[in-house]
Amino acid sequence: MCGIVAYIGNKQALPILINGLRRLEYRGYDSAGIAVFDDGKPCTIKAVGKIDNLAEKLKTQNFDSTFGIAHTRWATHGSVTESNAHPHADCTGKIILAHNGIIENYRELKEKLGANHVYKSETDSEVLAHLIETYYTGDLRKAVLEALARVRGTYGLVVMHADRPGQLVVARMGSPLVVGIGEEEYFVASDATPMLAYTKKVIFLEDGEVADISRTQLHTVNLKDHNVTKHVEEIEWDEAQAQKQGFPHFMLKEIFDQPNVVQDAIRGRYKLEDGTAHLGGLNMSDEQMRSIKRIILIACGTASYAGIVGKYMFERLAGIPTEVDVASEFRYRDPIIDNQTLVFGISQSGETADTLAALKEAKRKGAFVRGIVNVVGSTIARETDGGTYIHAGPELAVASTKAYTNMVAVLLLYALQFGRLNKLSIATGQRLLQALVEIPEKMKSILSQSDKIKELAEKYKNSRDMLYLGRGINFPVALEGSLKLKEISYIHSEAYPGGEMKHGAIALLSPEFPVMAIMTKNQLYDKMRSNVEEIKARKAPIILVATEGDDKAIELAQDVIYVPPTMELLEPLLNTLPLQLFAYHTAVALGRDVDRPRNLAKSVTVE
Ligand code: AGP
Repeated sequence: MCGIVAYIGNKQALPILINGLRRLEYRGYDSAGIAVFDDGKPCTIKAVGKIDNLAEKLKTQNFDSTFGIAHTRWATHGSVTESNAHPHADCTGKIILAHNGIIENYRELKEKLGANHVYKSETDSEVLAHLIETYYTGDLRKAVLEALARVRGTYGLVVMHADRPGQLVVARMGSPLVVGIGEEEYFVASDATPMLAYTKKVIFLEDGEVADISRTQLHTVNLKDHNVTKHVEEIEWDEAQAQKQGFPHFMLKEIFDQPNVVQDAIRGRYKLEDGTAHLGGLNMSDEQMRSIKRIILIACGTASYAGIVGKYMFERLAGIPTEVDVASEFRYRDPIIDNQTLVFGISQSGETADTLAALKEAKRKGAFVRGIVNVVGSTIARETDGGTYIHAGPELAVASTKAYTNMVAVLLLYALQFGRLNKLSIATGQRLLQALVEIPEKMKSILSQSDKIKELAEKYKNSRDMLYLGRGINFPVALEGSLKLKEISYIHSEAYPGGEMKHGAIALLSPEFPVMAIMTKNQLYDKMRSNVEEIKARKAPIILVATEGDDKAIELAQDVIYVPPTMELLEPLLNTLPLQLFAYHTAVALGRDVDRPRNLAKSVTVE
């Protein structure tokens, strides 16, 4: 899950490459490097750690180059060292490349290449440079194609040659690559954010496609060197959206984006007067929708927790049995699927390898396969036979927040659309939609408590462990809250259905083991209240998420965060926000790198 940027044009390449790497840092940030031409010779500079370290090193360099490649790494093969950072070169030092993905047969290739080749790193990627070297006789594209014909695995690849300071050859198999088209200049990157400041005209490379790029022309072929015609698309996001806009971290900016972006997720997709929703991208006839006997929601991490919320919504509103499958398990359990099964792949990045592989398996087994995705033009969006963009805008913090909320909103609209096609009454549909359009204002009232939640975070920041509890539709909210705390504060936390706690986890409770419990007013309020009393009896500190006006809540807990009331199925759209803020403020209080938490990456493009 690395980030790649390349530029060829008339502008100075270095600032474009460094800014581009900063945009892609969420993809991996254990080391970085660039290669540019200076005085006709390629120069490679690498550094361990964040892009700042590389930028610091480059301060002393005075390169004059309008062509270069760059890379930010998330280590898969070889430890975090400068020599393992990209770009890598061949024995001659003339073939220079940056690679995102995994070369599965790199050991066999290395063996075949023999002992003559000298390797400077432990990486699978460097083997590619030596492989290209063996086929290079002056035609860089030909040598790259020859090499790739022998490669098994995934790659987003950019290659340049010292003798050809005006040519870039890039290739894609499994790892995303976008080419940006400017006036006599081209940009290449793992996603579009590094080029938004320069162009919105892009082409998305598909698997097995190679682009041969110079300052004046772009030529796309397949792995057999046959021409491929590409369609130029226009990106809707703008540079500003990919900025922090005055917030200290992308995560906080994205938490505060939610009241606006949730409106983008639902705009034009429902009809209040009919009490229904209409998501055109589904690409299924009413008859096909009525034929669906089972729904499977496939995803990873936060997206899978949005899926669990979706399960409650589909079963409650549409009466269709719905399962949630963690993508990395789905593929290998030989799932029972038929042509009355609808499989949704849910993904912010649209590039998560496990989810993509699971969708391909479901498609192979004859299911209807659709996507619920944020990144426009991403692989899952293009591999599925229809679906919906969640319109959360660029989400750059590794910890997902606004994408989760918009996934939940789109899942609600889908459940409503299927429900109204089955037995759901227009009145229920209208009540739900009325409650949905009131959500943005209610979100704002929760976000206005950020400072209060900051104090709570300060109070509990030194906890070694925490337990998150919720019942019914608030169980996946507890799961999401616990994941947020884990991934950015590194505090160990677990989430449990409220009723399940007494079957084991209650043994963990002590005055040193705080519990975050979601006890909002809904059909399970009384059940959850007795669970909270069980916790109180064990003297564990309690933070409650309760409904405004619930005066009894303060009797049970030292700390209460009040949220506005809404319909039960919509509660995740509100109750998750205090948990996002609590995790955020705890991580800040502990001095963590909130946007770039250790060991994580935003888009997991390897299995
Ligand atoms: C969530 O904060 C994490 N970044 C991670 O769990 C993420 O949700 C998961 O990797 C799935 O990513 P996707 O939505 O891009 O497929």
